[in-house]
Formats: sequence, C-alpha cells, structure tokens
Amino acid sequence: MRMSEDTTNRDMAPLERVDWDAEAAAFDDEPDHGLRDPAVRGAWAARLRDWLPDHPCELLDLGCGTGSMSLLATDQGHSVTAVDLSPAMVDLARAKLAGRAARVLVGDAAAPPVAGGTFDAVLVRHVAWTLPDLDGALAHWLSLLRPGGRLILVEGVWGTLSPVGIPAARLTGALAPLATHVRHEPLSGDALLWGRQVDDDRYAVVATARL
Ligand SMILES: C[S@@+](CC[C@H](N)C(=O)[O-])C[C@H]1O[C@@H](n2cnc3c(N)ncnc32)[C@H](O)[C@@H]1O
Repeated sequence: MRMSEDTTNRDMAPLERVDWDAEAAAFDDEPDHGLRDPAVRGAWAARLRDWLPDHPCELLDLGCGTGSMSLLATDQGHSVTAVDLSPAMVDLARAKLAGRAARVLVGDAAAPPVAGGTFDAVLVRHVAWTLPDLDGALAHWLSLLRPGGRLILVEGVWGTLSPVGIPAARLTGALAPLATHVRHEPLSGDALLWGRQVDDDRYAVVATARL
C-alpha cells in the first residue's frame, strides 16, 4: 500500500482494511520497500548499521513484508528471524532470503512464535501503526530482547490531507517507563531513504531494554 494522501484508514481497524496478501506482489515497487535503487538501499543500510550492534547479532524482524530489511541485516553479518502474518509476504521473503542466515515464519507481530529474552534487536518497520493493542505489543517486544537489547521502531504519520500512522510522541511516551533509554530520530529529511523528498513525519524510535 502506498502511504499517501489518498490513504483513508485512519479511523478503522487497519488489518480489516489492508489485504497484505493482495499487496505482496507489487509491494517492492515502492523505493523504500524493494530497496532496488542502490542509493536508497545504501541509505537504509547505513541507518541499520547505526541502529544495530556492531557485532553479529540475533535480529527479529516483525512484520517483515518481503524481507528487504532482513536482507540488509544478513548483508551486515546478522542472523535474522523474520515474521509476517501474510503468507504471500512470507513466500516472497523466503525467496529473497534463501541461502542467508535467516528463517521466515508466519505469525502475528504482536505475539510472534519465538522465545522471550533471546534477541539482541527487534526491528519493526511500518507495522506498529497497524496493530490494535500497541501498548501490549511494545511491552511484549521488549520482553523478547536480551538485557540491553534494542527495540527499533520505524514509523511515521504519512500523508498530509488524511494522515495515517503514529505520532512519535505516542511511542516515546509509551516506551519511556519500560526501557532504559529511548531515542527519537527524524527520518523525513533524508530523501535518499524514500527515493524522493517527503513532507510528512517519518522517524525511528530506538529503545534499549533494561539490563
Ligand atoms: C507496510 S508493510 C511493512 C513491511 C516491512 N516491515 C518493510 O518495512 O518493508 C506491513 C507488513 O506488516 C504485516 N503485518 C500487518 N499486521 C501484522 C501482524 N499483526 N503481524 C505480522 N505481520 C503483520 C503485513 O503483512 C505487511 O507485510
């Protein structure tokens, strides 16, 4: 789904509105989804390198879509468990990640089929905005991390006429009492990430799990 002014599901339960299986085949056509342009891919790779530990780690990519971010993580030497609710997305992610240090599972990002306390980082890009119980999901994601692990949320408020998404303050406010450190990183100004200039609010929030 292209997150633009014509997106109007702000007041609805998003999963009832978006058929992710139907979106899968064309999903990678968006520059920031498929990361086909080397400049866009390089911009995301640089952010990911900054967000993840500088040693090989265990990453959980929730709502992985076609696996583009997981692929970048394996490029950087990390091992990935990727989870998505959509079987069509999972099929594409499995194909993209074939031969990599990665496994791709069908599952709910809010309750993924993985053990708690076993990941160095949990990445959730453009997924938190779809979940009905955001606070429950945030607490659960922190519980999946090893002590000192990182929860990396990439979200935004997309569009200007009928915006959808999550204001950054909603995430930082919810995470502040649960994590040791919470950092907000604006991303709108980096046109390379999106393959074009954007004038809506896109950002990352990186939270560190308690020791
Ligand atoms: C906008 S796409 C983002 C995909 C990927 N994270 C990326 O950044 O390219 C949203 C993805 O979340 C998945 N999704 C939505 N709700 C989910 C849920 N409750 N559990 C797991 N995956 C979910 C969809 O199937 C879709 O692949």
